[in-house]
Amino acid sequence: MPTPERRTTKPIGVALLGLGNVGGGVVKLLRDNAAAIEARLGAQIEVRAIVVRDPDKADRVIEIDRALLTTDLDAAIARPDIGIVCELIGGTTDAKHVVLAALAAGKHVVTANKALLAEHWAEVFGAAERAGADLYYEAAVCGGVPIIRALREGLASDRVEALHGIVNGTSNYILSTMAASRRPFTDILREAQALGYAEADPRLDIGGGDAAHKLAVLANLCFGTTVDVAAIATDGIDAIEPIDLDYAERFGYVIKPLAIARDHGGAIEARVHPALVPASWLLARVAGAKNAVYVNSYALGPSMYYGAGAGMLPTAMAVVSDMIEIGRNMFARAAGAPRPPARVATPRAMVPLAEIRTRYYLRFGVADQPGVLGQLMTVLGAHGVSIAQVVQDTGRGAEPEEKVTVVVLTHTAREGDVRAALAEIEHLAVVRAPPRVIRIASEGSP
Ligand code: HSE
Repeated sequence: MPTPERRTTKPIGVALLGLGNVGGGVVKLLRDNAAAIEARLGAQIEVRAIVVRDPDKADRVIEIDRALLTTDLDAAIARPDIGIVCELIGGTTDAKHVVLAALAAGKHVVTANKALLAEHWAEVFGAAERAGADLYYEAAVCGGVPIIRALREGLASDRVEALHGIVNGTSNYILSTMAASRRPFTDILREAQALGYAEADPRLDIGGGDAAHKLAVLANLCFGTTVDVAAIATDGIDAIEPIDLDYAERFGYVIKPLAIARDHGGAIEARVHPALVPASWLLARVAGAKNAVYVNSYALGPSMYYGAGAGMLPTAMAVVSDMIEIGRNMFARAAGAPRPPARVATPRAMVPLAEIRTRYYLRFGVADQPGVLGQLMTVLGAHGVSIAQVVQDTGRGAEPEEKVTVVVLTHTAREGDVRAALAEIEHLAVVRAPPRVIRIASEGSP
């Protein structure tokens, strides 16, 4: 019996802005999965224009029909046969201009640009709202992991209370590889760059800026607010030394690059830093360049979303899935479905870093003298910082002049109190090097 022909509507035209790794992946995926995409959407998605800076360099990633190439961005956006503009140029200047222009022209937009969203959230979503257009951004956070869709649709009836994410693959790759091999940081960073995960400026990865952008997007989505990225306390992974990985392991922890957000009812807590994570926690097992977001929500409780946070096809997959969803919205609206009401962002205060409460790993390099341990404990105690565990090792100092290494794990303490205690400890005559501080995170942490 012949298969009945599926009735599909006319194709949806896409203008692709940028043809790097992700853009190439989008072209490839639309080509390779064309039949499945058409079956799921009921229409084809057709790339009709690819805007590039230099057409001579355009087919480095994937072979393309050169007739699609153009350098004329404005003309591509204005074409009436383009329904979706896909911004993959990155940065915040040109990208913002392009996204706003596309929305103003009534086009729906897909972007993978976390920096643009994090820094201009209210402006770009305001523009989308005024234009009655869709703005989708699954690929901006954790590449192919459908965390935005999970939070927006899967947990639509729930309320997120906190999330802990490993959202930067490069940092996770570096710390995982250092933990496994104790090889030097810079060698491993070079490897991560060769694998194609690192940002063009890897300081964004190792300094935590990339993770802060992603955290701002997640917090805005979960908590219905507009987080100021500059107000997210951000520490990179570059201060982590092999000795810290050793001690973490000894206490039953691994060190992971975390992005943490929590709803305190009134204010929002948001921070990015490496943290000791109990080896028994699922997050501790997220190794290599993989990403994961561990979410605590009111109804579901804990849930975790895991996968490739970067790479050509994983990221392209998120972009193309957004196109499919936009296509479905286009058809629904054409059939008279109402647009959902605008989500109003409510400004929320940020919890000042000094006021956060968590547990701490403190490492001291001190002289080997009677009473040293007592001095450290006295100062910590005077600031209300309670000790959970202590180890002291002779001859294990990271610095040559350190005779003794003391590592303290605290109970939950206020950050401001810990910092005040450390400032005092640093001036003790017996202390040989600035104390090292790493926060501890756990499933049940406050
Ligand atoms: N540089 C990013 C990472 C790529 O390492 O996770 C994806 O945003």
